Amino acid sequence: MGAGIAQIAAAAGHEVLLFDAREGAAEKAIVGIAAQFSRLAEKGKLSAAEASAASGRLKAARDLQGLFDAGLIVEAIVENLEAKQGLFRSLEAIVAPTALFATNTSAISVTAIGAALTQPERLAGLHFFNPAPLMALVEVVSGLATTPSVAETLYDTAKAWGKSPVHTTSTPGFIVNRVARPFYAEAQRVLQEGGADAATIDACCKEGGGFRMGPFELMDLIGHDVNLAVTKTVWAAYFHDPRFLPSLLQQEMVAAGFLGRKSGRGFYDYRPDATNPPPNTASDARATLDAAGPVTVFGQSIAAQALRERLTAAGRPCLSAEATDDRIAQVGEAVVYVTDGRTASHRAFASGLANTFVIDLALDYRTASRLAMAGAEGANEAARSQAVGLLQAAGFAVSVFRDVPGLILMRTVAMLANEAADAVNQGVCTVAAADTGMRLGVNYPLGPLAWADAIGLPRVRDVLAHLGQAYGEDRYRISPLIHQRVFAKKALYD
Ligand SMILES: NC(=O)c1ccc[n+]([C@@H]2O[C@H](COP(=O)([O-])OP(=O)(O)OC[C@H]3O[C@@H](n4cnc5c(N)ncnc54)[C@H](O)[C@@H]3O)[C@@H](O)[C@H]2O)c1
Repeated sequence: MGAGIAQIAAAAGHEVLLFDAREGAAEKAIVGIAAQFSRLAEKGKLSAAEASAASGRLKAARDLQGLFDAGLIVEAIVENLEAKQGLFRSLEAIVAPTALFATNTSAISVTAIGAALTQPERLAGLHFFNPAPLMALVEVVSGLATTPSVAETLYDTAKAWGKSPVHTTSTPGFIVNRVARPFYAEAQRVLQEGGADAATIDACCKEGGGFRMGPFELMDLIGHDVNLAVTKTVWAAYFHDPRFLPSLLQQEMVAAGFLGRKSGRGFYDYRPDATNPPPNTASDARATLDAAGPVTVFGQSIAAQALRERLTAAGRPCLSAEATDDRIAQVGEAVVYVTDGRTASHRAFASGLANTFVIDLALDYRTASRLAMAGAEGANEAARSQAVGLLQAAGFAVSVFRDVPGLILMRTVAMLANEAADAVNQGVCTVAAADTGMRLGVNYPLGPLAWADAIGLPRVRDVLAHLGQAYGEDRYRISPLIHQRVFAKKALYD
Protein backbone atom coordinates (compact mmCIF):
# COMPACT_ATOMS: atom_id res chain seq x y z
CA MET A 1 0.00 0.00 0.00
CA GLY A 2 2.87 2.35 0.82
CA ALA A 3 4.23 2.12 -2.73
CA GLY A 4 0.80 2.84 -4.19
CA ILE A 5 0.37 5.92 -1.99
CA ALA A 6 3.88 7.14 -2.85
CA GLN A 7 3.04 6.72 -6.55
CA ILE A 8 -0.09 8.88 -6.17
CA ALA A 9 1.76 11.65 -4.32
CA ALA A 10 4.69 11.70 -6.76
CA ALA A 11 2.32 11.75 -9.74
CA ALA A 12 0.61 14.77 -8.15
CA GLY A 13 3.92 16.66 -8.04
CA HIS A 14 5.19 16.07 -4.49
CA GLU A 15 8.73 15.19 -3.58
CA VAL A 16 8.30 11.81 -1.84
CA LEU A 17 10.64 10.11 0.58
CA LEU A 18 10.08 6.40 1.16
CA PHE A 19 11.22 4.60 4.26
CA ASP A 20 10.78 0.91 5.06
CA ALA A 21 12.25 -0.96 8.01
CA ARG A 22 13.17 -3.80 5.67
CA GLU A 23 16.57 -3.16 4.05
CA GLY A 24 16.24 -2.41 0.34
CA ALA A 25 12.41 -2.40 0.34
CA ALA A 26 12.11 1.34 -0.32
CA GLU A 27 14.57 1.19 -3.23
CA LYS A 28 12.69 -1.79 -4.67
CA ALA A 29 9.40 0.08 -4.35
CA ILE A 30 10.85 3.05 -6.24
CA VAL A 31 11.92 0.76 -9.12
CA GLY A 32 8.39 -0.69 -9.18
CA ILE A 33 6.72 2.73 -9.16
CA ALA A 34 9.02 4.00 -11.93
CA ALA A 35 8.01 0.97 -14.00
CA GLN A 36 4.36 1.90 -13.40
CA PHE A 37 5.02 5.45 -14.61
CA SER A 38 6.75 4.07 -17.74
CA ARG A 39 3.76 1.81 -18.41
CA LEU A 40 1.40 4.78 -18.06
CA ALA A 41 3.58 6.71 -20.53
CA GLU A 42 3.43 3.78 -22.99
CA LYS A 43 -0.35 3.83 -22.71
CA GLY A 44 -0.35 7.58 -23.39
CA LYS A 45 -1.70 8.48 -19.96
CA LEU A 46 1.45 10.47 -19.12
CA SER A 47 4.04 12.06 -21.38
CA ALA A 48 7.52 10.52 -21.25
CA ALA A 49 8.78 13.73 -19.63
CA GLU A 50 6.05 13.61 -16.95
CA ALA A 51 6.79 9.97 -16.22
CA SER A 52 10.47 10.61 -15.80
CA ALA A 53 9.86 13.74 -13.67
CA ALA A 54 7.46 11.80 -11.44
CA SER A 55 10.01 8.99 -10.99
CA GLY A 56 12.65 11.62 -10.20
CA ARG A 57 10.56 12.90 -7.30
CA LEU A 58 10.90 9.57 -5.43
CA LYS A 59 13.81 9.05 -3.05
CA ALA A 60 14.55 6.40 -0.49
CA ALA A 61 15.36 7.53 3.06
CA ARG A 62 18.11 5.51 4.77
CA ASP A 63 16.59 5.97 8.18
CA LEU A 64 13.76 7.78 9.91
CA GLN A 65 16.02 10.80 10.47
CA GLY A 66 15.98 11.24 6.72
CA LEU A 67 12.32 12.29 6.96
CA PHE A 68 13.17 15.32 9.15
CA ASP A 69 11.84 17.99 6.74
CA ALA A 70 8.67 16.18 5.61
CA GLY A 71 5.44 18.19 5.78
CA LEU A 72 3.19 15.10 5.73
CA ILE A 73 4.03 11.56 6.83
CA VAL A 74 1.72 8.81 5.56
CA GLU A 75 2.22 5.60 7.53
CA ALA A 76 1.42 2.24 5.88
CA ILE A 77 3.38 -0.21 8.03
CA VAL A 78 2.26 -3.46 9.63
CA GLU A 79 -1.33 -3.40 11.00
CA ASN A 80 -0.34 -3.34 14.67
CA LEU A 81 -1.23 -0.66 17.23
CA GLU A 82 2.06 -0.73 19.16
CA ALA A 83 4.13 -0.63 15.95
CA LYS A 84 2.18 2.34 14.63
CA GLN A 85 2.33 4.19 17.97
CA GLY A 86 6.05 3.51 18.22
CA LEU A 87 6.71 4.83 14.72
CA PHE A 88 4.77 8.06 15.24
CA ARG A 89 6.38 8.59 18.65
CA SER A 90 9.82 8.32 17.04
CA LEU A 91 8.76 10.69 14.27
CA GLU A 92 7.56 13.29 16.78
CA ALA A 93 11.18 13.67 17.87
CA ILE A 94 12.38 14.08 14.28
CA VAL A 95 9.95 16.19 12.25
CA ALA A 96 8.75 19.78 12.74
CA PRO A 97 5.80 20.29 15.14
CA THR A 98 3.82 21.53 12.13
CA ALA A 99 4.21 18.31 10.12
CA LEU A 100 1.00 16.30 9.67
CA PHE A 101 0.64 12.60 10.44
CA ALA A 102 -1.64 10.23 8.54
CA THR A 103 -2.19 6.52 9.06
CA ASN A 104 -3.45 4.14 6.39
CA THR A 105 -4.78 1.70 8.99
CA SER A 106 -7.78 -0.35 7.86
CA ALA A 107 -9.10 -1.26 11.26
CA ILE A 108 -7.13 0.20 14.16
CA SER A 109 -8.63 3.12 16.09
CA VAL A 110 -7.03 6.38 14.96
CA THR A 111 -7.86 7.72 18.42
CA ALA A 112 -5.83 4.90 19.99
CA ILE A 113 -2.83 5.49 17.73
CA GLY A 114 -2.96 9.21 18.59
CA ALA A 115 -3.12 8.49 22.31
CA ALA A 116 0.60 7.72 22.30
CA LEU A 117 1.52 11.11 20.87
CA THR A 118 2.35 14.42 22.50
CA GLN A 119 0.45 16.16 19.71
CA PRO A 120 -2.39 13.75 18.83
CA GLU A 121 -4.29 16.61 17.18
CA ARG A 122 -2.06 16.43 14.11
CA LEU A 123 -2.87 12.76 13.35
CA ALA A 124 -5.75 11.52 11.18
CA GLY A 125 -6.48 8.44 9.14
CA LEU A 126 -5.98 8.49 5.39
CA HIS A 127 -7.44 5.14 4.41
CA PHE A 128 -6.72 4.19 0.80
CA PHE A 129 -8.25 1.22 -0.97
CA ASN A 130 -6.29 -1.43 -2.83
CA PRO A 131 -4.91 -0.85 -5.45
CA ALA A 132 -4.41 2.71 -4.22
CA PRO A 133 -3.45 4.30 -7.56
CA LEU A 134 -6.65 2.98 -9.16
CA MET A 135 -9.25 3.20 -6.41
CA ALA A 136 -10.76 6.69 -6.10
CA LEU A 137 -11.96 6.48 -2.50
CA VAL A 138 -10.00 7.72 0.50
CA GLU A 139 -11.57 7.72 3.95
CA VAL A 140 -10.26 10.68 5.98
CA VAL A 141 -10.62 9.48 9.54
CA SER A 142 -10.80 11.87 12.49
CA GLY A 143 -9.80 10.52 15.87
CA LEU A 144 -11.19 12.04 19.05
CA ALA A 145 -8.20 14.39 19.35
CA THR A 146 -7.79 15.22 15.65
CA THR A 147 -8.08 18.95 14.93
CA PRO A 148 -10.75 19.59 12.27
CA SER A 149 -8.31 21.69 10.21
CA VAL A 150 -5.95 18.69 9.98
CA ALA A 151 -8.76 16.49 8.62
CA GLU A 152 -9.67 19.28 6.18
CA THR A 153 -6.09 19.63 4.95
CA LEU A 154 -5.84 15.86 4.40
CA TYR A 155 -9.21 15.90 2.63
CA ASP A 156 -8.05 18.72 0.33
CA THR A 157 -4.75 16.96 -0.26
CA ALA A 158 -6.47 13.70 -1.27
CA LYS A 159 -8.70 15.70 -3.58
CA ALA A 160 -5.70 17.44 -5.15
CA TRP A 161 -4.28 13.95 -5.73
CA GLY A 162 -7.30 13.15 -7.88
CA LYS A 163 -9.08 11.09 -5.24
CA SER A 164 -12.65 11.27 -3.94
CA PRO A 165 -12.21 11.63 -0.18
CA VAL A 166 -14.94 11.27 2.44
CA HIS A 167 -14.84 12.32 6.07
CA THR A 168 -15.51 9.75 8.79
CA THR A 169 -14.94 9.48 12.50
CA SER A 170 -12.71 6.84 14.01
CA THR A 171 -15.28 4.09 14.58
CA PRO A 172 -14.78 0.38 13.86
CA GLY A 173 -14.72 -0.33 10.12
CA PHE A 174 -14.98 3.43 9.38
CA ILE A 175 -17.59 3.62 6.60
CA VAL A 176 -16.87 0.94 4.01
CA ASN A 177 -15.77 -2.02 6.10
CA ARG A 178 -18.73 -1.44 8.42
CA VAL A 179 -21.53 -0.82 5.93
CA ALA A 180 -20.43 -3.66 3.62
CA ARG A 181 -20.87 -6.42 6.24
CA PRO A 182 -24.49 -7.28 5.30
CA PHE A 183 -23.53 -7.81 1.66
CA TYR A 184 -21.69 -10.96 2.74
CA ALA A 185 -23.78 -11.83 5.79
CA GLU A 186 -27.27 -11.82 4.27
CA ALA A 187 -26.14 -13.91 1.31
CA GLN A 188 -24.57 -16.46 3.65
CA ARG A 189 -27.75 -16.61 5.69
CA VAL A 190 -29.90 -17.20 2.61
CA LEU A 191 -27.48 -19.92 1.48
CA GLN A 192 -27.42 -21.50 4.92
CA GLU A 193 -31.22 -21.57 5.02
CA GLY A 194 -31.39 -23.25 1.63
CA GLY A 195 -32.94 -20.21 -0.04
CA ALA A 196 -30.77 -20.76 -3.12
CA ASP A 197 -27.26 -21.94 -3.96
CA ALA A 198 -24.24 -19.64 -4.23
CA ALA A 199 -24.26 -19.40 -8.03
CA THR A 200 -27.96 -18.50 -8.07
CA ILE A 201 -27.56 -15.84 -5.37
CA ASP A 202 -24.57 -14.36 -7.20
CA ALA A 203 -26.47 -14.32 -10.50
CA CYS A 204 -29.44 -12.52 -8.90
CA CYS A 205 -27.16 -9.92 -7.31
CA LYS A 206 -25.41 -9.24 -10.62
CA GLU A 207 -28.20 -9.58 -13.16
CA GLY A 208 -30.95 -8.15 -10.97
CA GLY A 209 -28.97 -5.89 -8.64
CA GLY A 210 -26.25 -4.53 -10.91
CA PHE A 211 -23.45 -5.58 -8.54
CA ARG A 212 -20.22 -6.24 -10.43
CA MET A 213 -19.58 -9.40 -8.44
CA GLY A 214 -21.90 -11.57 -6.41
CA PRO A 215 -21.17 -11.92 -2.68
CA PHE A 216 -19.81 -15.47 -2.97
CA GLU A 217 -17.52 -14.68 -5.91
CA LEU A 218 -16.29 -11.63 -4.04
CA MET A 219 -15.66 -13.53 -0.78
CA ASP A 220 -13.79 -16.17 -2.78
CA LEU A 221 -11.64 -13.40 -4.26
CA ILE A 222 -11.01 -11.60 -0.96
CA GLY A 223 -10.26 -14.89 0.80
CA HIS A 224 -12.50 -16.32 3.52
CA ASP A 225 -9.76 -16.01 6.13
CA VAL A 226 -9.45 -12.27 5.44
CA ASN A 227 -13.20 -11.67 5.10
CA LEU A 228 -13.98 -13.59 8.31
CA ALA A 229 -11.20 -11.76 10.17
CA VAL A 230 -12.61 -8.35 9.15
CA THR A 231 -16.13 -9.42 10.18
CA LYS A 232 -14.88 -10.73 13.52
CA THR A 233 -12.88 -7.54 14.15
CA VAL A 234 -15.86 -5.29 13.45
CA TRP A 235 -18.20 -7.54 15.47
CA ALA A 236 -15.85 -7.56 18.48
CA ALA A 237 -15.20 -3.82 18.18
CA TYR A 238 -18.94 -3.15 18.43
CA PHE A 239 -19.04 -5.24 21.62
CA HIS A 240 -20.54 -8.20 19.77
CA ASP A 241 -23.51 -6.34 18.37
CA PRO A 242 -25.59 -9.02 16.57
CA ARG A 243 -25.76 -6.71 13.55
CA PHE A 244 -22.27 -7.94 12.69
CA LEU A 245 -22.54 -11.57 13.80
CA PRO A 246 -20.09 -13.65 11.73
CA SER A 247 -21.32 -16.63 9.74
CA LEU A 248 -20.79 -20.20 10.93
CA LEU A 249 -20.74 -21.17 7.30
CA GLN A 250 -17.72 -18.99 6.65
CA GLN A 251 -16.03 -20.24 9.81
CA GLU A 252 -16.42 -23.77 8.44
CA MET A 253 -14.96 -22.70 5.10
CA VAL A 254 -11.90 -21.33 6.89
CA ALA A 255 -11.64 -24.44 9.09
CA ALA A 256 -11.69 -26.61 5.97
CA GLY A 257 -9.00 -24.51 4.28
CA PHE A 258 -11.47 -23.56 1.55
CA LEU A 259 -10.18 -20.00 1.45
CA GLY A 260 -11.38 -19.12 -2.04
CA ARG A 261 -9.41 -18.57 -5.23
CA LYS A 262 -6.06 -18.58 -3.49
CA SER A 263 -6.54 -22.11 -2.14
CA GLY A 264 -8.30 -23.43 -5.25
CA ARG A 265 -11.57 -23.90 -3.46
CA GLY A 266 -14.16 -21.69 -1.83
CA PHE A 267 -17.85 -21.47 -2.57
CA TYR A 268 -16.72 -22.23 -6.12
CA ASP A 269 -14.16 -24.78 -7.25
CA TYR A 270 -11.12 -23.27 -8.98
CA ARG A 271 -9.12 -26.47 -9.37
CA PRO A 272 -8.11 -27.41 -12.91
CA ASP A 273 -10.91 -29.29 -14.69
CA ALA A 274 -13.46 -28.30 -12.04
CA THR A 275 -16.91 -27.40 -13.27
CA ASN A 276 -19.24 -25.19 -11.32
CA PRO A 277 -23.01 -25.57 -11.57
CA PRO A 278 -24.80 -22.72 -13.38
CA PRO A 279 -27.34 -20.60 -11.54
CA ASN A 280 -30.73 -22.14 -11.11
CA THR A 281 -33.00 -20.80 -13.85
CA ALA A 282 -36.62 -21.91 -14.18
CA SER A 283 -37.45 -23.68 -17.44
CA ASP A 284 -39.68 -21.93 -19.93
CA ALA A 285 -43.23 -21.75 -18.57
CA ARG A 286 -44.58 -19.04 -20.87
CA ALA A 287 -46.91 -21.52 -22.63
CA THR A 288 -48.94 -21.83 -19.42
CA LEU A 289 -49.98 -18.20 -19.83
CA ASP A 290 -51.98 -18.96 -22.97
CA ALA A 291 -54.61 -20.90 -21.06
CA ALA A 292 -54.46 -18.67 -17.97
CA GLY A 293 -56.35 -15.70 -19.35
CA PRO A 294 -55.12 -12.11 -19.37
CA VAL A 295 -52.29 -10.73 -17.27
CA THR A 296 -53.35 -7.79 -15.12
CA VAL A 297 -50.75 -5.34 -13.81
CA PHE A 298 -51.76 -3.23 -10.84
CA GLY A 299 -50.88 0.31 -9.85
CA GLN A 300 -48.09 2.69 -10.76
CA SER A 301 -45.19 1.37 -8.69
CA ILE A 302 -41.81 1.30 -10.46
CA ALA A 303 -42.00 -2.48 -10.68
CA ALA A 304 -45.54 -2.44 -12.08
CA GLN A 305 -44.72 0.18 -14.68
CA ALA A 306 -41.62 -1.70 -15.80
CA LEU A 307 -43.56 -4.97 -15.99
CA ARG A 308 -46.20 -3.32 -18.17
CA GLU A 309 -43.55 -1.83 -20.48
CA ARG A 310 -41.67 -5.11 -20.77
CA LEU A 311 -44.77 -7.21 -21.45
CA THR A 312 -45.92 -4.74 -24.11
CA ALA A 313 -42.47 -4.67 -25.71
CA ALA A 314 -42.50 -8.47 -25.81
CA GLY A 315 -45.85 -8.45 -27.64
CA ARG A 316 -47.93 -9.52 -24.63
CA PRO A 317 -50.12 -6.59 -23.77
CA CYS A 318 -51.69 -6.73 -20.35
CA LEU A 319 -54.68 -5.24 -18.60
CA SER A 320 -54.09 -2.37 -16.22
CA ALA A 321 -55.89 -1.94 -12.96
CA GLU A 322 -55.78 0.39 -9.98
CA ALA A 323 -53.76 -0.89 -7.08
CA THR A 324 -56.03 -2.67 -4.63
CA ASP A 325 -53.48 -3.99 -2.21
CA ASP A 326 -49.73 -4.14 -2.73
CA ARG A 327 -49.92 -6.69 -5.57
CA ILE A 328 -48.27 -5.78 -8.84
CA ALA A 329 -49.65 -8.50 -11.09
CA GLN A 330 -52.08 -11.34 -11.40
CA VAL A 331 -52.47 -14.07 -13.97
CA GLY A 332 -54.73 -17.11 -13.72
CA GLU A 333 -54.56 -18.09 -10.08
CA ALA A 334 -51.22 -16.45 -9.33
CA VAL A 335 -50.98 -13.17 -7.44
CA VAL A 336 -47.55 -11.48 -7.48
CA TYR A 337 -46.10 -8.96 -5.01
CA VAL A 338 -42.72 -7.29 -4.60
CA THR A 339 -41.31 -8.65 -1.35
CA ASP A 340 -41.84 -6.53 1.76
CA GLY A 341 -39.66 -8.82 3.85
CA ARG A 342 -42.42 -11.32 4.60
CA THR A 343 -42.31 -14.76 3.06
CA ALA A 344 -44.90 -15.56 0.41
CA SER A 345 -46.39 -18.03 2.90
CA HIS A 346 -46.73 -15.29 5.53
CA ARG A 347 -48.51 -13.05 3.01
CA ALA A 348 -50.74 -15.92 1.87
CA PHE A 349 -51.68 -16.59 5.50
CA ALA A 350 -52.46 -12.91 6.05
CA SER A 351 -54.50 -12.44 2.84
CA GLY A 352 -56.08 -15.87 2.47
CA LEU A 353 -54.72 -16.05 -1.08
CA ALA A 354 -52.99 -19.42 -1.28
CA ASN A 355 -51.36 -18.73 -4.66
CA THR A 356 -49.20 -15.86 -3.49
CA PHE A 357 -45.78 -15.19 -5.05
CA VAL A 358 -43.14 -12.64 -4.14
CA ILE A 359 -40.44 -11.24 -6.39
CA ASP A 360 -37.19 -9.63 -5.40
CA LEU A 361 -35.94 -6.07 -5.62
CA ALA A 362 -34.15 -5.07 -8.84
CA LEU A 363 -31.79 -2.14 -9.31
CA ASP A 364 -33.87 -1.22 -12.37
CA TYR A 365 -36.90 -3.35 -13.19
CA ARG A 366 -36.84 -2.03 -16.77
CA THR A 367 -33.44 -3.49 -17.56
CA ALA A 368 -32.83 -6.29 -15.02
CA SER A 369 -32.31 -9.64 -16.70
CA ARG A 370 -32.94 -11.92 -13.70
CA LEU A 371 -35.31 -11.94 -10.75
CA ALA A 372 -35.58 -14.15 -7.70
CA MET A 373 -39.09 -15.36 -6.94
CA ALA A 374 -40.68 -17.50 -4.23
CA GLY A 375 -44.14 -18.99 -3.82
CA ALA A 376 -46.24 -19.69 -0.75
CA GLU A 377 -45.99 -23.28 0.46
CA GLY A 378 -49.65 -23.88 -0.29
CA ALA A 379 -49.51 -22.54 -3.86
CA ASN A 380 -50.52 -25.03 -6.54
CA GLU A 381 -48.34 -26.10 -9.47
CA ALA A 382 -50.45 -24.38 -12.11
CA ALA A 383 -50.16 -21.04 -10.30
CA ARG A 384 -46.40 -21.57 -9.88
CA SER A 385 -45.99 -22.03 -13.61
CA GLN A 386 -48.18 -19.02 -14.31
CA ALA A 387 -46.13 -16.76 -12.01
CA VAL A 388 -42.87 -17.96 -13.56
CA GLY A 389 -44.31 -17.69 -17.08
CA LEU A 390 -45.47 -14.13 -16.44
CA LEU A 391 -41.99 -12.98 -15.44
CA GLN A 392 -40.40 -14.89 -18.30
CA ALA A 393 -42.84 -13.31 -20.76
CA ALA A 394 -41.52 -9.94 -19.56
CA GLY A 395 -37.99 -11.10 -20.38
CA PHE A 396 -36.68 -12.04 -16.92
CA ALA A 397 -34.71 -15.18 -16.24
CA VAL A 398 -36.40 -16.49 -13.09
CA SER A 399 -34.60 -18.07 -10.15
CA VAL A 400 -37.07 -19.78 -7.86
CA PHE A 401 -35.95 -19.53 -4.24
CA ARG A 402 -37.12 -21.39 -1.20
CA ASP A 403 -39.57 -19.09 0.57
CA VAL A 404 -37.03 -17.14 2.70
CA PRO A 405 -37.91 -13.70 4.11
CA GLY A 406 -36.88 -10.78 1.88
CA LEU A 407 -35.42 -13.04 -0.87
CA ILE A 408 -31.84 -11.84 -1.53
CA LEU A 409 -31.50 -8.33 -2.98
CA MET A 410 -34.28 -6.73 -0.97
CA ARG A 411 -32.96 -7.96 2.36
CA THR A 412 -29.36 -7.19 1.43
CA VAL A 413 -30.04 -3.64 0.24
CA ALA A 414 -32.34 -2.93 3.21
CA MET A 415 -29.60 -4.06 5.59
CA LEU A 416 -26.87 -2.10 3.76
CA ALA A 417 -29.07 1.00 3.94
CA ASN A 418 -29.85 0.33 7.61
CA GLU A 419 -26.16 0.15 8.48
CA ALA A 420 -25.34 3.26 6.45
CA ALA A 421 -28.26 5.10 8.07
CA ASP A 422 -27.00 4.12 11.52
CA ALA A 423 -23.52 5.41 10.67
CA VAL A 424 -25.10 8.72 9.65
CA ASN A 425 -27.31 8.72 12.74
CA GLN A 426 -24.27 8.24 14.96
CA GLY A 427 -22.37 11.12 13.34
CA VAL A 428 -19.81 8.87 11.65
CA CYS A 429 -20.39 10.39 8.21
CA THR A 430 -22.90 12.24 6.08
CA VAL A 431 -25.54 10.61 3.86
CA ALA A 432 -23.53 11.55 0.76
CA ALA A 433 -20.25 10.27 2.25
CA ALA A 434 -21.81 6.89 3.09
CA ASP A 435 -23.00 6.46 -0.49
CA THR A 436 -19.75 7.71 -2.04
CA GLY A 437 -17.86 5.29 0.19
CA MET A 438 -19.86 2.29 -0.97
CA ARG A 439 -19.87 3.24 -4.65
CA LEU A 440 -16.18 3.99 -4.85
CA GLY A 441 -14.77 1.74 -2.14
CA VAL A 442 -16.58 -1.48 -3.12
CA ASN A 443 -18.10 -0.54 -6.50
CA TYR A 444 -21.77 -0.78 -5.53
CA PRO A 445 -23.97 0.24 -8.45
CA LEU A 446 -25.79 2.79 -6.28
CA GLY A 447 -25.15 4.11 -2.79
CA PRO A 448 -27.33 2.19 -0.30
CA LEU A 449 -29.02 5.37 0.97
CA ALA A 450 -29.90 6.64 -2.51
CA TRP A 451 -31.12 3.10 -3.20
CA ALA A 452 -33.29 3.13 -0.07
CA ASP A 453 -34.82 6.43 -1.21
CA ALA A 454 -35.51 4.90 -4.62
CA ILE A 455 -37.21 1.86 -3.05
CA GLY A 456 -39.15 4.16 -0.72
CA LEU A 457 -38.14 4.40 2.92
CA PRO A 458 -41.46 3.05 4.27
CA ARG A 459 -40.87 -0.15 2.29
CA VAL A 460 -37.30 -0.41 3.58
CA ARG A 461 -38.59 0.09 7.12
CA ASP A 462 -41.21 -2.63 6.57
CA VAL A 463 -38.64 -5.06 5.15
CA LEU A 464 -36.42 -4.60 8.19
CA ALA A 465 -39.37 -4.90 10.57
CA HIS A 466 -40.50 -8.12 8.89
CA LEU A 467 -36.99 -9.57 8.93
CA GLY A 468 -36.87 -8.70 12.62
CA GLN A 469 -40.16 -10.49 13.22
CA ALA A 470 -39.16 -13.51 11.15
CA TYR A 471 -35.86 -14.03 12.93
CA GLY A 472 -36.52 -12.44 16.30
CA GLU A 473 -32.98 -11.08 16.24
CA ASP A 474 -31.71 -7.67 17.27
CA ARG A 475 -29.60 -7.84 14.13
CA TYR A 476 -32.50 -6.40 12.13
CA ARG A 477 -33.36 -3.52 14.48
CA ILE A 478 -34.20 -0.44 12.51
CA SER A 479 -31.95 2.61 12.56
CA PRO A 480 -33.65 5.52 14.34
CA LEU A 481 -32.79 7.67 11.32
CA ILE A 482 -34.99 5.53 9.07
CA HIS A 483 -37.88 5.75 11.54
CA GLN A 484 -37.42 9.52 11.82
CA ARG A 485 -37.43 10.11 8.07
CA VAL A 486 -40.46 7.87 7.56
CA PHE A 487 -42.40 9.71 10.27
CA ALA A 488 -41.37 13.05 8.74
CA LYS A 489 -42.47 11.73 5.30
CA LYS A 490 -39.04 12.60 4.00
CA ALA A 491 -36.36 10.79 2.05
CA LEU A 492 -32.81 10.44 3.35
CA TYR A 493 -31.59 12.92 0.73
CA ASP A 494 -34.31 15.54 1.50
N1 LIG B 1 -3.47 -4.43 1.70
C1 LIG B 1 -4.60 -3.76 1.66
O1 LIG B 1 -5.52 -4.08 0.88
C2 LIG B 1 -4.79 -2.55 2.52
C3 LIG B 1 -5.81 -1.64 2.21
C4 LIG B 1 -5.97 -0.51 3.01
C5 LIG B 1 -5.15 -0.31 4.10
N2 LIG B 1 -4.16 -1.22 4.40
C6 LIG B 1 -3.33 -0.94 5.57
O2 LIG B 1 -2.06 -0.47 5.11
C7 LIG B 1 -1.03 -0.89 6.01
C8 LIG B 1 0.01 -1.68 5.23
O3 LIG B 1 -0.60 -2.78 4.62
P1 LIG B 1 0.10 -3.60 3.45
O4 LIG B 1 -0.87 -4.59 2.95
O5 LIG B 1 0.74 -2.68 2.49
O6 LIG B 1 1.22 -4.37 4.29
P2 LIG B 1 2.62 -4.99 3.81
O7 LIG B 1 2.97 -6.00 4.83
O8 LIG B 1 2.55 -5.38 2.38
O9 LIG B 1 3.62 -3.76 3.90
C9 LIG B 1 4.01 -3.20 5.12
C10 LIG B 1 5.43 -2.68 4.96
O10 LIG B 1 5.76 -1.98 6.16
C11 LIG B 1 7.09 -2.30 6.51
N3 LIG B 1 7.23 -2.08 7.95
C12 LIG B 1 6.74 -2.85 8.95
N4 LIG B 1 7.01 -2.28 10.14
C13 LIG B 1 7.66 -1.12 9.89
C14 LIG B 1 8.16 -0.06 10.68
N5 LIG B 1 8.05 -0.09 12.01
N6 LIG B 1 8.75 0.99 10.08
C15 LIG B 1 8.86 1.03 8.73
N7 LIG B 1 8.40 0.07 7.92
C16 LIG B 1 7.80 -0.98 8.49
C17 LIG B 1 7.27 -3.73 6.08
O11 LIG B 1 8.64 -4.02 5.89
C18 LIG B 1 6.47 -3.77 4.78
O12 LIG B 1 7.28 -3.47 3.66
C19 LIG B 1 -1.72 -1.67 7.10
O13 LIG B 1 -2.04 -0.80 8.17
C20 LIG B 1 -3.00 -2.14 6.42
O14 LIG B 1 -4.05 -2.42 7.31
C21 LIG B 1 -3.97 -2.32 3.62
